[in-house]
Amino acid sequence: MPSKKLIKARKFEKKYLPYTIKEQPWFHLTAGIGWMNDPNGFAPYKGEYHLFFQYYPYDTKWGPMHWGHVKTKDFIKWERLPCALAPDSEYDRDGCFSGGAVQMPDGRHLLIYTGVANERSKSGKIQSYQTQCIAIGDGVDYEKFERNPVIDASLIPENGSVHDFRDPKIWLEDGVYHVVVGNRSEDGSGSILLYESKDAKNWEYKGVVSSSHNQYGRMWECPDLFRLDGTDVLFTSPQEMTAIGLEFHPGNANVCILGEFDPKTNHLNRKSVQAVDYGLDFYAMQTLQTYDGRRVMIAWMQNWETSSSRKEELQFCGMMTVPRELSVRNGKLYQNPVREIEKYRGLKIDYYDVHINNETSLYGINGNCIDMTVTIKPGNESHMYKWFRIYLCKDGEHYTLLRYRPDISTLKVDRTRSGFPHDIVNIREFPVRMIDGKLKIRFIIDRYSMELFVNDGEQAASFVLYAPANAESISFSCEGSSVIDIEKYDLLKEV
Ligand code: FRU
Repeated sequence: MPSKKLIKARKFEKKYLPYTIKEQPWFHLTAGIGWMNDPNGFAPYKGEYHLFFQYYPYDTKWGPMHWGHVKTKDFIKWERLPCALAPDSEYDRDGCFSGGAVQMPDGRHLLIYTGVANERSKSGKIQSYQTQCIAIGDGVDYEKFERNPVIDASLIPENGSVHDFRDPKIWLEDGVYHVVVGNRSEDGSGSILLYESKDAKNWEYKGVVSSSHNQYGRMWECPDLFRLDGTDVLFTSPQEMTAIGLEFHPGNANVCILGEFDPKTNHLNRKSVQAVDYGLDFYAMQTLQTYDGRRVMIAWMQNWETSSSRKEELQFCGMMTVPRELSVRNGKLYQNPVREIEKYRGLKIDYYDVHINNETSLYGINGNCIDMTVTIKPGNESHMYKWFRIYLCKDGEHYTLLRYRPDISTLKVDRTRSGFPHDIVNIREFPVRMIDGKLKIRFIIDRYSMELFVNDGEQAASFVLYAPANAESISFSCEGSSVIDIEKYDLLKEV
């Protein structure tokens, strides 16, 4: 039986969702109405891919967390399903926080999430108690387990924290359920804990997969652990990161640890650590394995620090990235938009060997719903250009600027003039490299966002942009001499 809170959320969606259709991005997922943060339960189910998300339908701000629900066949077009979970039980009365999902051997859909219940301590401080809970359903309706929570304080290792214990990511392997959960350890920073279960109801603590030791941020949120191309990969989203070179920015960051998981100790032996996405808006990434064997990631395309800067006229806040196919090559994580996006490519315009020095616009190279790849080469082999700039989503007043400097090997994106109504962080600079004298950048641009993929997925960077719909000019300029190739497709809303 759905609870009153869930019925209320579902009624609210039915009533108001139709009014928001016109303001949606063309192909990036939003909550439809209200607030969205982390992707949850991104997993295959009965031939399709389901996605849930942190959701507060009633406002464009974070509130008591529900789980919104959508599904897709191709990762680009999503079908909305009614709200899946509401904070309606004693153990999750203050929120159904992030988690995962998996298809059970008997065909039912299992959700595991963090139940949050706040309590006032003796000293008057409000403290959050976090436990892991399950709900089982048929792909639309879910029933919370009567013996929730299934993982509570009794299964937290000594010196772990019951106040920061969240975001279980689940997978099923050889008939055993596994979850990784974020926890705060005694040094105040994050640890990822591993649990196993035969029935998803009775769990056993197995060990610490990896810990921050205050090196990569404090609390580690939203873990994911998977094997890819012969390497074990751990994702986490740290809070309170302090900057490390140009690799990690301060605040809510994202981290990928590559290594070898030791099944005897349940510990991940690190080989390297890198950022997943170098943009301003990327957090809480989660992956699934597709029916044809690809590892696909989706993330919240936002940042806690800047999420209060929204466009007031929109009835939603928060978007997901385009899902990305992952691979590990030469000890690095690579990512590219899912290949399904190519089905949505319309008119193609291309140019080869165009010399750029003064500011140049090219006939047909514009748009704000496009898939465009620009390859930049030096115009004069013996004299490298000083900088190269691309202005995007431009009208008389707005633009987003991308600048590459070969002397310091950095790419800088500046969205100061892309329509944000608040003085938030608008600039991000990150290291990139030329390969065989070329820098290749693919742009996926939609209403309200831009995702960059450098050198065929060697790096990615995501940005929310609020330029008006008609700000769609693009131009190029260079100090020195350069030559570019461009391939641009309009992205179609329907195929
Ligand atoms: C990450 C996070 C999670 C938590 C959720 C609450 O963005 O803080 O740790 O489960 O958001 O909405």
